[in-house]
Amino acid sequence: MERILVAVAWPYANGPLHLGHVAGAYLPADIFARYHRAKGNRVLMVSGSDQHGTPITITAEQEGKPPQEIAAKYHAGFLDCWRRMGISFDLFTSTGTANHARVVHDFFLKLLDKGYIYRDKMPLPYCAKCQRYLPDRYVEGTCPFCSYAESRGDQCDKCGKPLGPLELGNPRCRLCGSPPRTEDSEHFFLRLSAFRDQLLDWVRQQSGWRQNVLNFTQRYLEEGLKDRAITRDIEWGIPIPQPGFEKKRIYVWFEAVIGYLSASKEWAAAGKNDDGWADYWQGESKSYYFIGKDNIPFHTMIWPAMLMGYGGLNLPSDVPANEFLTIEGRKLSTSRNWAVWLPDYLERYAPDPLRYLLSANMPESADADFSWREFVRRNNDELVATYGNLVHRVMTFTHRHFEGCVPQPGDLDAASNALLRKAESTLAAVDESLAHCRFREAVRAAMSLAQETNRYLDEKSPWKTVKTDRQACATALFASFSAISCLKTVLAPFLPFSSQKLHAMLGGQGEVTAEGWGLHAVQPGQRLGAAETLFTKLDEAVVAAESSRLGNGQG
Ligand code: MF3
Ligand code: ZN
Repeated sequence: MERILVAVAWPYANGPLHLGHVAGAYLPADIFARYHRAKGNRVLMVSGSDQHGTPITITAEQEGKPPQEIAAKYHAGFLDCWRRMGISFDLFTSTGTANHARVVHDFFLKLLDKGYIYRDKMPLPYCAKCQRYLPDRYVEGTCPFCSYAESRGDQCDKCGKPLGPLELGNPRCRLCGSPPRTEDSEHFFLRLSAFRDQLLDWVRQQSGWRQNVLNFTQRYLEEGLKDRAITRDIEWGIPIPQPGFEKKRIYVWFEAVIGYLSASKEWAAAGKNDDGWADYWQGESKSYYFIGKDNIPFHTMIWPAMLMGYGGLNLPSDVPANEFLTIEGRKLSTSRNWAVWLPDYLERYAPDPLRYLLSANMPESADADFSWREFVRRNNDELVATYGNLVHRVMTFTHRHFEGCVPQPGDLDAASNALLRKAESTLAAVDESLAHCRFREAVRAAMSLAQETNRYLDEKSPWKTVKTDRQACATALFASFSAISCLKTVLAPFLPFSSQKLHAMLGGQGEVTAEGWGLHAVQPGQRLGAAETLFTKLDEAVVAAESSRLGNGQG
């Protein structure tokens, strides 16, 4: 039995979730967690709302509400989406808790004590007109790395590099547009430069990581690693545990990554096992960080450096960052409403068809596109026609001709044996793919068993043999049920709602997940549940209706 920490990026609580979030981090994390739970491993899956920093204050100013209110509103929306989408967090908390502040202060003070955090003056953009410093996203300008003209002061949207606001060319205040002047301000810095060699050694050992993650990180480290300010001139955020800094706050990125640890501690305390978090942070436990590619530097360099400095906690085992999801061939943009919002989706459709499409077309090693046409096609052709129809045929036929019990097979012929072997090899293939976070490959292997079973069934034609050779008919149904039972298991991480339904149809009790990862051979004589519809065909009109919503009005 393994112990696995599934750490998922903390979404900013400044807007609703969209498909980019789901495909980028939450769905792969959830599939991975469900898979490991089925394998009998102990899993802790945590995340929470990222409630601080300029993304929140900017939205709060735009909406004319206090930041706390914005954060609370979107946090409630996140929880609702996780439940309806089947994203199975063990804890989804927020960076607004007293526990989080406590853990962040402990981290800060320990690094300060060890000399990895130090105080220094730095020049910062100051807007004379607005009479304020301009932290992070309050200043915009040209990226020094890639020359993108609309870069933000914290990270370039185009090339993904983190940067400081004074590195921008042609800087301007986001609030009033005027060019800021620079003024000295006293801040705390993280001594990242001290970890560069250690990080490079560590990253070079990670042969199992995705190529894009490795390349980005290595290239970055080879260019050198500069110390970074970890406090800001802002009043919304976690206070700095040092006198004289009352008007400043800890930088959102420094504290948000500590959330993985503070959430683990909160989870342990809630389970009346205060030390239980350590099972997932020390010793043989493994940790997987599911994030989008814009978050890579924070998870492969900054957070590991913080962990190295703190000491005694495990570094990430893997950071399977996903690339971006485009929408109908164009870059997703929340401000232009070129996005599919998860609450909207869930109002109109079931969760599993989206989980399926985004798994089959996950932006794992390259950007991937979401289109409504592809959504309808995959739902109708693959879920309804291939998988759902297979289950429906076998279930209704058995109810009609075998009193709703799994038929007693005779000797298995070659084709039936081959189908059972295909089920076995599918179980092993999906297992292997999921263990290595290869989700597209895994779901494809699973669906190929459904296709194979349909072919088998057509060849055996039990609807003919029921009149001519009842034993052959019974054998064909038995073998089909065996394959269907395997499909239920291998597809459960991807399609948890349908697998649960199918589990009940096959006469299973309780939760499908409790059964674990295995073939779970159907027993002859097993009484089946009622035949239910697993998936519903979608009208082609969905494509036009949904496409016309894109880019319109406000999200
Ligand atoms: N809130 C950040 C984003 O949406 C992600 C934070 S991940 C964490 O890009 F690890 F820092 F929490
Ligand atoms: Zn850039």
